[in-house]
Amino acid sequence: MVVDRPVDTRVRVGSIELPHAVMTAAGTSGHGAELGRYCDLSTLGAVVVKSLSVMPWPGNPAPRLHPLPEGMINSVGLQGPGVAGWFDEFFPELVRSGGRVVVSLWGRSVDEYRQAALATADGIRRTGRAGDCVIAVEVNLSCPNLEGRRGIFAHDAELSAAVVAESVAALAGAPRPVWAKLSPNTDRLVEIAGAVRAAGAEAVTLVNTVLGLVIDPDTGRPVLGNGGGGVSGRIIHPVAQRAIFDVAAAHPDLPIVGVGGVSSATEAVALLQAGASAVQVGTATFADPRAPEIVARDLVTWAADRGIGRLADLTGVAHRGGIHPLPPAQG
Ligand SMILES: Cc1cc2nc3c(=O)[nH]c(=O)nc-3n(C[C@H](O)[C@H](O)[C@H](O)COP(=O)(O)O)c2cc1C
Repeated sequence: MVVDRPVDTRVRVGSIELPHAVMTAAGTSGHGAELGRYCDLSTLGAVVVKSLSVMPWPGNPAPRLHPLPEGMINSVGLQGPGVAGWFDEFFPELVRSGGRVVVSLWGRSVDEYRQAALATADGIRRTGRAGDCVIAVEVNLSCPNLEGRRGIFAHDAELSAAVVAESVAALAGAPRPVWAKLSPNTDRLVEIAGAVRAAGAEAVTLVNTVLGLVIDPDTGRPVLGNGGGGVSGRIIHPVAQRAIFDVAAAHPDLPIVGVGGVSSATEAVALLQAGASAVQVGTATFADPRAPEIVARDLVTWAADRGIGRLADLTGVAHRGGIHPLPPAQG
């Protein structure tokens, strides 16, 4: 098919404009510019780096990854160099790649998130012009709250709101939009999305992995060193669609970054149509490190083939009756 009309690939997520709707997902493309050997990172909407805590963190025992027929289960456990170490060790190469950077943060208490955000503001300031590459901070709320043992942050509206409010305040020295990355493992997702928004999140990122466990029948033991883990990839794509659709229906003015099982343009389209303004590509990158770039390119072709002039027009199509109006109900 001949593409005779350019497609405007720019999208808005809250206060920022991205040159393309497709970005990477946290934790699936390394700490920095590793993916740059396979993709031109500057052509993506943004690169979301692996979640960082205020201190270096060793992660979980091996094995940490196990393939599934349509995805994988992992318990990497957020291994990382800590925010300050990351700015020193990994950020410079990422800046040279020309990509826009979303820094992802995690913590085990509200105060650890606050300290991670303070360290991020410090890193942005001390790196001068390079710090301009950091366009947003994504707060990964799918972490257990070890203070008072109150479960997963993202399963509790009050705790999630507290993390977001503290992170926004801590970033005052180098203000950046805060995106709250939420968990699909709760029936309170819509309420929690509303709470983080009220606390200052400019967008929500939907979704993180789905809780799972895989037992090896030959040993009778879990295949992952940590026992359970998070399921990702195509297998969770309908979960992501549902989460995005429900949150978009309840909060039509809250920007959503969609993630979950995107490995082709049509899956990216589905998340946009469900209500996302942009999408992230995660697990697909393990099968082919060029996946984010391929999805980005094919999404443009998909839109051009259908005469869709702007990727932004795909957002929320499913809430407007679809591209083709449904036939009148029978009977
Ligand atoms: C190996 C691996 C590591 C991940 N690490 C992080 C992380 O550090 N922070 C985070 O917010 N999400 C992390 N995720 C979740 C992904 O960013 C994404 O939300 C999830 O995998 C669903 O998208 P996908 O199906 O495209 O992978 C990780 C996922 C995988 C598979």
